[in-house]
Amino acid sequence: MKIRTVLPALALLAALPAQAQDIKVGAILPYSGVYASIGEEITNAMALAFEEAGNAVNGRALKIIRADTETKPNVAAAKARELVTSDNVDFLVGPVASSEAMAIRDFVHQSKIPLVMPNAGANVLTGEKCSPYIVRVGFSNDQFVRPAGKWLFDKGVKSAFLLAPDYAAGRELMGGFKKSFTAAGGKIVGEEYSPFGQTSDFGPYLAKVKDAKPDAVFVFYAGSEAINFIKQAADFQLAKSVKITGAAWTVSPLFLPAQGEAAAGFLGSLNYVPALDNPANKAFQAKYQERHKRVASEFGAAGYESGRLIVEALKRTQGATKDKKAVIEAMHKVEMNGPRGPLKIDPATNNVIQNIYMVEARKGADGKVDLAVVDTIANVKDDVNGCAMNW
Ligand code: PHB
Repeated sequence: MKIRTVLPALALLAALPAQAQDIKVGAILPYSGVYASIGEEITNAMALAFEEAGNAVNGRALKIIRADTETKPNVAAAKARELVTSDNVDFLVGPVASSEAMAIRDFVHQSKIPLVMPNAGANVLTGEKCSPYIVRVGFSNDQFVRPAGKWLFDKGVKSAFLLAPDYAAGRELMGGFKKSFTAAGGKIVGEEYSPFGQTSDFGPYLAKVKDAKPDAVFVFYAGSEAINFIKQAADFQLAKSVKITGAAWTVSPLFLPAQGEAAAGFLGSLNYVPALDNPANKAFQAKYQERHKRVASEFGAAGYESGRLIVEALKRTQGATKDKKAVIEAMHKVEMNGPRGPLKIDPATNNVIQNIYMVEARKGADGKVDLAVVDTIANVKDDVNGCAMNW
């Protein structure tokens, strides 16, 4: 004991086994801008998953370092670099917007730091521009809407108008829907793309949708844009003449409290709803609600499952993080029954294989609007889409 106390601090540090060093997880997420609430929920839920593991694996503490992307691709790129080169993170988790993910792709691939994506759906990141270091727990944009095209056509929607924000995710989600809807026999009668993050008045778009007289509008918005769009569509009484459908983040439980009754009737695809009846989801919702005093949405489920994936992979490597290939290969071995149901990572693309749920926003007896599952499309898996893994 005597000898240890006289050791200089640096020598003491060097004497510690490498195992004792923290495992740093860089949360590269929007904490401001259009998608700020999404970044917060993902982080909260990931922290819960780490807490369940005692905030450590093999004696190494799990630490989250937050970096605000501001929902801006150039800021995301700068922050990713900072997390890797200054903070020396072992993992990156994020971002939310497809455009942010595209902006950090090359840096992540070159730096070989595993990026776990709970949300950003840019198709090419698990297709032509895939990387062994980019693992997608969320979804690809195409995977999310592909099942909805045929499903809605089969349910009687024969013509649709497309409406989304004008950036990668909006374009890809509409493109994916269009492909499967028209292949089934559906007709697209118009499409509009609103300036991303700059549109708060959806009036002109609502008027165009109504004038085109489609059976349905297929729409995607998230964050503050989703709240504004749904409220304005209700004020405009669009649902009287046009069925409102789409990528159901538009009525996410994260935005429903602000949207209220205006969201009722929305029909669309989603990979999670709070009402899913499985033990992992019940436990997750109980913990999240106790801690944060609100229901967790699909963004929370994905943040939690991203955290679980990291913990499960680290258990397999006994907490070792240096050999990045071993960490990623451990992720491939994890088969999880998470809150959203079964999920696993397809090693051919690093995209998640998961159920897609057709959901409806319904007003309950208490006047509250919740999402109900009306159909399940099981184990939806993307094609390889030009992905070649270059380690
Ligand atoms: C995306 O930009 O990929 C994105 C953002 C928010 C969502 C879904 C997709 O809710």
